Amino acid sequence: MRYKDKDVIVTGAASGIGKATAIRLAVEGARIICADIDEQGAVATAENLSGTGHYGLGFDGADAASCREMIAAAVARSGKLDMLCNIAGVMDWGPLHRFSEEQFDRVVRINLNSLYYLAKAAMPHLLATRGNIVNMSSAAGLVGIAYNSAYCASKAGVLAMTKSLAIEFASQGVRVNAICPTGVKTPMTGTLDWPDDMDPALLMRNASKMGDMIDPEDVAAAVAFLGSTDARTISGISFPVDGAQTAG
Ligand SMILES: NC(=O)c1ccc[n+]([C@@H]2O[C@H](COP(=O)([O-])OP(=O)(O)OC[C@H]3O[C@@H](n4cnc5c(N)ncnc54)[C@H](O)[C@@H]3O)[C@@H](O)[C@H]2O)c1
Repeated sequence: MRYKDKDVIVTGAASGIGKATAIRLAVEGARIICADIDEQGAVATAENLSGTGHYGLGFDGADAASCREMIAAAVARSGKLDMLCNIAGVMDWGPLHRFSEEQFDRVVRINLNSLYYLAKAAMPHLLATRGNIVNMSSAAGLVGIAYNSAYCASKAGVLAMTKSLAIEFASQGVRVNAICPTGVKTPMTGTLDWPDDMDPALLMRNASKMGDMIDPEDVAAAVAFLGSTDARTISGISFPVDGAQTAG
């Protein structure tokens, strides 16, 4: 019960890694605010968590005002905030010549700008509790991946922001860490199509060396560790959960 009496916001909680994280932290005693653009999905996750005091909220991570309003609504209900898990994100890929400016902007806005909006709104509350942030980056933030320049840029940006905020707030007791998973079995990867003009050989190197893709629960376990007092001296790290994908 590492999260007994802890109030935690989990974005992206309607699906995949966010949902698995909400489930894991609730089992460890947390009260979870499940936040997602899919409000119904967020509410459904909250309703099915173990324990009490959970609820779901809709918000759009691409919109600064919506991020501010979500954090304010969450703290208005829980009275405090101990941890922010920034997990909501999108993946979009394609050869450079077919990838539009609109696609690039959308990926960066949701995966990177959003984390800035949310950290800014949450920080006063995290300073009050000496809380922490766990940001969801990716192995794609550590290495380049063909056809994924927008996604990789957004996830590398998450790592740079994580390190900068970790240094900025270390002396005030707020930790900021990031997780870099390899391919995870979620709707995000389950719905990817593979256009004919993409070379599979360029993508094959970007996989876990342990074989298959990993489960969302494997990533949730890493979030639970980094956000807990077990990791109280760990801040500013990019934590691979990748079956040695990025080891060499
Ligand atoms: N699945 C993988 O292989 C993998 C690997 C590394 C990192 N990640 C990262 O993990 C995170 C979760 O991915 P997942 O695999 O669970 O995907 P998923 O598609 O299952 O879940 C993503 C969630 O984010 C929500 N979301 C999307 N846009 C939003 C917005 N504008 N505002 C608020 N919520 C929004 C979706 O509604 C969804 O519930 C993402 O940041 C992703 O980039 C995923």
